[in-house]
Amino acid sequence: MPRENIVAVIDKGGRGAVLASKYLQSPDVDRIIAIPGNDMMAQGKEKPVETYPMLRTTDVNEIADLCRSRNVALADVSSSKAVRAGLADALRANGVATVGPGMRAGEIEWSKAFAREFGKRHMIPQPEFYIAVGIPPAMRYVDTRAFRPLFIKADGLMGGSGSIGALTIEEARIAIKKLGWTKSPLHKKVVIEEWLTGDGMITGEEFSAFAMSDGRDVQLLGFAQDYNKAESGERGSNTGGMGASTPHSAITPAIEEYTTILFDRAIRCLKKEGRKYNGVLYMGGMLVHKDGELRLYVLEWNARWGEPEAQVVVPGIIDDYFRLNMGVARGEITSHRIANDGKARVAVTAAARGYPEDYSKAIGKEIVGLDRAAKVDGVTIFGAGVKIENGRYYANGGRLFYVVAEDWNTNGARERAYAAMSEIQVEDNNLHFRDDIGMPHMDRILRH
Ligand code: GLY
Repeated sequence: MPRENIVAVIDKGGRGAVLASKYLQSPDVDRIIAIPGNDMMAQGKEKPVETYPMLRTTDVNEIADLCRSRNVALADVSSSKAVRAGLADALRANGVATVGPGMRAGEIEWSKAFAREFGKRHMIPQPEFYIAVGIPPAMRYVDTRAFRPLFIKADGLMGGSGSIGALTIEEARIAIKKLGWTKSPLHKKVVIEEWLTGDGMITGEEFSAFAMSDGRDVQLLGFAQDYNKAESGERGSNTGGMGASTPHSAITPAIEEYTTILFDRAIRCLKKEGRKYNGVLYMGGMLVHKDGELRLYVLEWNARWGEPEAQVVVPGIIDDYFRLNMGVARGEITSHRIANDGKARVAVTAAARGYPEDYSKAIGKEIVGLDRAAKVDGVTIFGAGVKIENGRYYANGGRLFYVVAEDWNTNGARERAYAAMSEIQVEDNNLHFRDDIGMPHMDRILRH
């Protein structure tokens, strides 16, 4: 019997689900093993998808053994915790073809202090910053400077909640206490940054950009808008992501060109520093109008696809995703420009009521209407925190699933996504979602 081509996707949320679906579109892929994966991943697939709920993405030795023993053709390390744990290094050491950066290259995400110092060394445009080691120096820093609004950031991985904006000294002190307190020595640095504003103190517009590299060459994959706040109108707590849309209305060809230059510079300089970067690199950027000109700043780098930006950018890639990534794993990224289908996509995150704070009351509640929602034209649903038992769906996490709609423009995609959302309920009114995903930046701000 000819050997099966198995792809291992090391991830669990909607991002893992969209990557698994994308790999399965390749005629070369026969099976996915998703580690740990989630209950909705195998649904509606013509090829097998196995999940490993007993494993965590950081179980480096177990995952390396599994991939080797199953003769995996390609492993995709797409979770930041797995990158931090050195999973890609271990897989490569075990002879498994792998996409995803090793621990050292991935430090560009898992240490905000490293990322800022790296940016300074290599002239990456970024906010002014100060790195305090421990709480007392951080407090002294905010106490002694002429106060301007700041962002206080924890150094390590914090799942989207590691950055707090402070408009006053008191707010900065509270944020330092919150983020700087930890038992882990990995988190003891606090990064304090200027809060970027443009003319008239107007906050800039954020964007997410994605590129892929084999460690030497870079290919731009696309741009998206991320909707991080829990409530519509950019209000409420930071979350892991309440939605995404593409294209991004503020991105012009000039911005695209400049972004590509910055990706290229980051990849080249990482290599020069002995941190060869293989896989998807994510730039969290901000556009600010200042002194009459448009400026671009890098707010953060992430060593993976965005969640939920992957859900809107990955489906639009026309190239065979398996062949593309095999090339990256071998250090031979394609030299032709990666093609995109040009469609607009909107992803609405369906969260459990209470997310990102206490959503325990929603756990175990039944979700109904997913089948009807998936029948709306142009809509696909990618699962995350959902448990399936006897064919019924139950809430089992903060972010439950993502409703992704496509059309030829963002308004059309938005209408389809919300038509699908209107079909879905979580028992006892336990569904929470934003109603402004895909709306232009100023419209979102001004309507509240
Ligand atoms: N969408 C934000 C993130 O993936 O970090």
